[in-house]
Amino acid sequence: MNVGIKGFGAYAPSKVIDNAYFESFLETSDEWISKMTGIKERRWAEDDEDTSDMAYKASLEAIEDAGISSKDIDMIIVATSTGDYPFPSVANILQEKLDIGKVASVDQLAACSGFMYAMINAKQFVQSGDYHNVLVVGVDKLSKITDMSDRSTAVLFGDGAGAAIIGEVSEGHGILSYELGSDGSGGKYLYQDQDTHKIVMNGREVFKFAVRIMGEASNKAVEKANLSPDDIDLFIPHQANIRIMESARLRLGIPEEKMSVSVDKYGNTSAASIPLSIDQELKNGKLKDGDTIVLVGFGGGLTWGAITLKWGK
Ligand code: ACO
Repeated sequence: MNVGIKGFGAYAPSKVIDNAYFESFLETSDEWISKMTGIKERRWAEDDEDTSDMAYKASLEAIEDAGISSKDIDMIIVATSTGDYPFPSVANILQEKLDIGKVASVDQLAACSGFMYAMINAKQFVQSGDYHNVLVVGVDKLSKITDMSDRSTAVLFGDGAGAAIIGEVSEGHGILSYELGSDGSGGKYLYQDQDTHKIVMNGREVFKFAVRIMGEASNKAVEKANLSPDDIDLFIPHQANIRIMESARLRLGIPEEKMSVSVDKYGNTSAASIPLSIDQELKNGKLKDGDTIVLVGFGGGLTWGAITLKWGK
């Protein structure tokens, strides 16, 4: 069975925060942020717009794109590190908001690799024949756990959501291979502090890890699919930092014009970052039916995941 993305949707909040915003209360500059990260602006949700609200909007679009009704969804998996509450899960809240039947719904946490993990989880349920339309959402409201007094993290993060209906797709489409992994010994480099509830990051260590793992995981997934870098039409890495993305691209041997870049518009949106990039490339016509793409994420845990996929239903 070919399992892939039957429908897709994304949502970014309308409030745009540019780099200059931080200059008034942090010792930083638009020049430093642009040069060191590639970020020019990010979106922040309003106080009364929570993670599940963003997930809801992206999901509606995905359901419509799949041409199904919410009643056809038989499982919900949400990848997030910033749920509305520790429990109930965002997936539980979505089940009610979308008026989906009383189906299995669960959140899973793999930080910025979350969308990769959720897609592959969903794939197994569909492949087994037990489930047919799994709603997978990657969503984060990082603005609510960002320490705005820490210049080395405050400027990096944004909010957003992406959703996919994972199900059976036609011959020549769907997920070709994947590579998932984790290394808990790196947990100390990127975590949410239990007292402040804010993100703590050792940027240099995360940078070193990310550069190595993005290249390694992508290469392994490409090999598993018996592809060569020349076969790749589009490379969509987790949008954390343009310098990390560039180095992963070079390790994979992909030309510059084949890499998706949306970090300039959205910053790092964690589990939403890869789907927001997919959305951008669909809208600008760079991602088309039948394209071979590589998705790769890394994040807190430390975790990683790469997927090769033939786009289309
Ligand atoms: N403006 C100005 N200066 C800054 C800023 C800022 N916003 N942030 C840090 N600096 C300073 C530091 O204080 C340091 O100053 P010092 O030399 O006087 O001590 C100097 O810049 C260099 O700092 P480094 O941290 O060594 O700089 P680096 O080249 O590593 O860049 C960055 C920092 C951009 C954070 C980089 O390390 C990075 O991108 N790391 C990975 C971040 C990432 O991908 N996180 C993913 C999170 S994923 C998830 O799961 C949520």
